[in-house]
Formats: sequence, C-alpha cells, structure tokens
Amino acid sequence: MRILMVCLGNICRSPLADGVLRQKVEQRGLLWEVDSAGTANYHIGEPPDERMIKTAQGRGVDISWLRARQFSQQDFKGFDRIYVMDRSNRSNVLKLTNEEDDRQKVYLLLDHLYPGEAAEVPDPYYGNSEDFDRVYTLIDEATNALIKDLSYEP
Ligand code: 4NP
Repeated sequence: MRILMVCLGNICRSPLADGVLRQKVEQRGLLWEVDSAGTANYHIGEPPDERMIKTAQGRGVDISWLRARQFSQQDFKGFDRIYVMDRSNRSNVLKLTNEEDDRQKVYLLLDHLYPGEAAEVPDPYYGNSEDFDRVYTLIDEATNALIKDLSYEP
C-alpha cells in the first residue's frame, strides 16, 4: 500500500498525517509507503510549521525532519491512495487528471472516520494552539480508522 497525504501548503495538516500514519505503520510492522505533498508551491523545501512540530512532539511524533513538496501529476502513478484534507484540496488534485483510474484514488481523509459526510480537516494555519490540537486529534482518529479499514484486521 502506498499512501500520499495532501493539503494546501504541506506544512501543517499533511505532514502531521504523514508523520502520525508513518509511526503507526512502523509500530504495526506494516510494509506501507507513506508520504505527503501540498497542492500549492508556497512552502516547497520548508520544514513543517513550528506550531505543528510542537503539537506533534507533545504527543510523541517527530515531524521536524519532513520537507514540503508540491503535489504533481506523477503522484497519481506513484501512490495507491491519495488522501486530501478538505474539499478544496480535492478539487485542486482532481484538476490535474482526467483519467478515471487516477480520480478513483482520491479520498477525503475523514471518510474513514465519518463515512459519507464529506467532513474536512480544518486548516489551522490562521488558528490558535487549540486548533492545532483539534487537528491532531482528528488525524490521530482518522489514521486509526484508515489502518483498521485497509489492513483487514478483525
Ligand atoms: P496546510 O496549511 O495546508 O495544512 O499546510 C496551510 C499552510 C500554509 C498556507 C495555507 C494553509 N498558506 O497560505 O501559506
């Protein structure tokens, strides 16, 4: 399984989802590939937002070493599942392909937690530390549900 987490800047939500899922995959001994990217080019090469690094650190996850990159059309071929954080990310990603096989790889991350609700991970960039904490909790729960759904555990 090759999983790509996608948000707008690749400095807040998707690096967190990347780091949190990566740690769970390692702890469970799953042979999955996990990565993240942003649809925008604003922050290419930058580490995650300092506030998100600290939030993750407080919960035992190190994301400080990740570096932002931009989502590209090749990512449709490089990954089995592309998880977007919100509907705007989804529309940006879908704009890059007309192939049905590619389009079917795109899911909202919260689909595993709240099926059928088109729920979004809110952008915490202009928020406070509570907003960052809330994003952590959502992503923690969503990645638990993702692993349960995709690893066919009882
Ligand atoms: P992210 O958050 O998409 O979760 O990484 C954002 C980061 C930066 C910006 C917007 C959202 N920005 O406008 O620079």
